Amino acid sequence: KLSVMPVIDQELTRLIDKVCYDVYHESMPSSIDVARKRDTLNFLQRYVTVLFPDATLTLFGSSMNGFGLKNSDMDISLTFLSCSTGAELPDGALSSLFKHMKKCRDLKKLIYVPFAKVPIIKFLHVPSNLEGDISLYNVLAQENTKLLAAYSEIDERVKIMGYLVKKFAKVCNVGDASKGSLSSYCYILMMLYFLQRCSPPVIPVLQALPESTEPLPRKIVESCNVYFYEDIASLSKVWPHHKKNVKSPGQLWIEFLRFYTEEFDSENYVVSIRSTELVLKLEKRWFTKVFAIEDPFVHDRNLGSGLTRKMNLYIIKAFRSARSLFTSKLKATGKQSLVGVY
Ligand code: GTP
Ligand code: MG
Repeated sequence: KLSVMPVIDQELTRLIDKVCYDVYHESMPSSIDVARKRDTLNFLQRYVTVLFPDATLTLFGSSMNGFGLKNSDMDISLTFLSCSTGAELPDGALSSLFKHMKKCRDLKKLIYVPFAKVPIIKFLHVPSNLEGDISLYNVLAQENTKLLAAYSEIDERVKIMGYLVKKFAKVCNVGDASKGSLSSYCYILMMLYFLQRCSPPVIPVLQALPESTEPLPRKIVESCNVYFYEDIASLSKVWPHHKKNVKSPGQLWIEFLRFYTEEFDSENYVVSIRSTELVLKLEKRWFTKVFAIEDPFVHDRNLGSGLTRKMNLYIIKAFRSARSLFTSKLKATGKQSLVGVY
């Protein structure tokens, strides 16, 4: 029988907080999970070195950006000591690697995807049961990994919110970019954008700090400025809002759902975490796109460009349902886990 008691705000907030912390603790990789990934990377490094003695494998993506779930895939970038950029690579390096990997008994589900935006080799490492992909010179992704990692270090709530939005996307089936929705990278950017704009903000715009320094330093990688303020331990010296927002994860989660269902004007504006100013779709010539998310370093890249109008409506509907479920039915049903709620 459903409870008909009126919902008490504080009590409900405590319940939502509990869901937030539960999802966070359930999803967080343990030290064993981390060691398993490290050992798998070492195994792959040794195996690849047999073919390419000067090859280096570098882990990026959620395994390194602070938002990795227990079973997140391994995103690996392959570089060579003898080539400073991908342009110097001999033709066929990835296809030779694919043939080499096929000979390895521990690797299964090998797929070579040569014509993707970023060509990759997908694999499953059987002993660890970890899936992953290897790409060549994915250097900008390594830079955005460092940027996200810096944001995740600022405050534990950033991590909690990141885990929550990834779980939400997974549970609601709206987190697969290859099926016309948005990637988990996009959802993390949406969450960071909200945390920069809530009041008071939980996180700054790291790419625009220190505010008093004019012009800001620059660091160029593949023609993009990948500079951001990295000294998180000294953030309070350059950002006056540091630790001013004391809202609980549950309060922030509800505000996040409200932000994207009521406040953010996606018809006219772009989700852009690199700028303190609002960014207009018009100025980017992205006005025909339903939802725009700017890559923090590659500014002409709309990460939401694959989203269809139908899928966009579906995602907004999922946000609305989540909001209504979290603010009313969670208490009524007594369900205490996110999976239970959906
Ligand atoms: P999960 O694997 O779902 O845990 O999250 P993830 O962040 O690792 O996502 P994914 O494996 O899809 O992507 C790996 C990394 O590649 C991301 O963290 C980003 O650093 C980068 N990445 C993914 N998609 C894009 C994109 O469209 N543009 C750019 N520049 N980088 C991307
Ligand atoms: Mg990944």
